[in-house]
This record gives sequence, C-alpha cells and structure tokens, in this order.
Amino acid sequence: MSLLQLRLARKQYTTTATAMTTIAADTPIAAPVLSSIELQLAAGEVLALVGASGCGKSTLLRILAGLDPDFEGDLRLEGRSLHGPTRDIGVVFQEPRLFPWLTVAENIGFDLGQGHDSAWVAQLLDEVGLRGLGQALPKQLSGGQAQRVAIARALYTRPRVLLLDEPFSALDAFTRQRLQDLVLSLARTHGSSLVLVTHDVEEAVLLSDRVLVLGAAPGRVVRELAVPLRHPRTRASAAVADLRNELLRTLERLDDSAPVSG
Ligand SMILES: Nc1ncnc2c1ncn2[C@@H]1O[C@H](COP(=O)(O)OP(=O)(O)O)[C@@H](O)[C@H]1O
Ligand SMILES: [Mg+2]
Repeated sequence: MSLLQLRLARKQYTTTATAMTTIAADTPIAAPVLSSIELQLAAGEVLALVGASGCGKSTLLRILAGLDPDFEGDLRLEGRSLHGPTRDIGVVFQEPRLFPWLTVAENIGFDLGQGHDSAWVAQLLDEVGLRGLGQALPKQLSGGQAQRVAIARALYTRPRVLLLDEPFSALDAFTRQRLQDLVLSLARTHGSSLVLVTHDVEEAVLLSDRVLVLGAAPGRVVRELAVPLRHPRTRASAAVADLRNELLRTLERLDDSAPVSG
C-alpha cells in the first residue's frame, strides 16, 4: 500500500470575472487547473514534481498536504481518506513563513499552539545546524537560517511525509546545496518520505528517486522518470547530466507545443 495516494479527476478555482470585459462582472469562471492526476508515494521515497511556472505545482502540493479539500478526487494517507491537514504531513514553503513575534524555538514548537516539547525543539535546532539560536527572533536570521527553522518546524510533529514547495529557490547556490543535503539526510534519519516541488531539473535529479513532469493548462503528469542513481550524487557526474538533459528536453517539447501566451 502506498503511504500517500492521490487520485484527482479535476481541480478548478472559481474566480470572478472582474477583469474580463466580455463577461459580466462577478460572473464566476471555472478554470481547470489540474486534471487526471494519479500520484502514489511509497514509504521512504523521494518524489520530485517539476514543471513550468503556473502549471499547478503549488496547487497540487497544497492538495497533497490536505490544505485544499476542494477538488474532485480522493486523497489517502496509509489507505485512510484525508480531508484536512494532519500532523503526519509537514510542509515547507518557498518562504519560511515564521511568526515574527515568536522566537526561533517557539516557531519550531508552535504546532498549532498545541504545546511545546523543549527537548525535542533543542534536538531539531541541533539537527538543522542552529544550536544556540533558539531565543533569536526571525528578523535576526539570514534567509538560509530562516529556512532551516521552517524545516525544523515541519519536522516537529514527526511527519510521515514532508512536502516541500520550491524550498531552496530563494537561496544562493551555496546555501541551497547545503540545505538540499540537509533535507535528504533529515528525511532519512526521521524516516519521512518527501515530495519536492521544484522548477530546477538538476535539483530534481540530485535529490529524488522519481520525477514527475507536469504539463500546463490543465496541469497533468506528462512524464515519469526514475532516477536509479546511488547517493551521494554530484552535479559533475555524467549520469546526473544525462537525466537532467532528458528532463530539460521534455520541458522544452512541452513549451514548444504550448499555445503562445502574453
Ligand atoms: N487561489 C487561487 N485562485 C485562483 N487561481 C489560482 C489560485 N491559486 C493559483 N491559481 C492559478 O492556478 C494556476 C496554477 O497556480 P500554481 O499552483 O501556483 O502554479 P505553480 O506553483 O506551478 O507556479 C495559475 O494559473 C494560478 O494563477
Ligand atoms: Mg508554485
């Protein structure tokens, strides 16, 4: 049985036609964002989702997190239907999204205000390389440090699954590489499976066991690629370069066949 399983027939956002002059203002428009997506995540697996900006990656991740139950389909965690957020699934977004008025330690242990296990917070601080910074405020941190706090916060509830939405894209190349390694090793020590959304095909190849390529309008899986390479993987290796190029070609073909837009 898969750890996490999504069968999605369709996801659409209902927006209101205020900017469209051909349609009366306030007419609801149903825009299909995602269509016919079957996704399975095995225990211990690292799955990457790649696709062009706007193709629906964040929408899909929010659905997988149980944060958006408004879709046609079925989401299951260990076989049980999921209709809302759960402590078994942690999420890391592109921006750290920390509470500025809480200390680093309080942010990590916030857990929807449910309590604060300080020994566990201290261990997580240690694991993400921030020992001694528990009493700091978010504004005192660098971008990389703030994202480490966000990772520790996501691990606080000991989730089975960690979902990451372009978590490294706002960071410089060096910091990004350090955090990529950190997330992989943390997932392994904590036994969490990962779903990593990225537009960086090299990152997908370096970190994941399997890559799903999403096409746009509506978002759907157009290609699945296994990454049967042992860790540690390096950018310089020919096998990594081959798979990266293969993914790039897939994305370029999608781009060529897409309707021209503004
Ligand atoms: N809350 C929302 N309401 C209406 N449309 C949305 C909403 N969120 C995203 N969209 C639209 O859905 C599409 C997919 O967005 P998103 O999932 O953020 O894509 P990605 O993460 O791949 O860039 C985009 O066209 C975006 O404008
Ligand atoms: Mg996004």
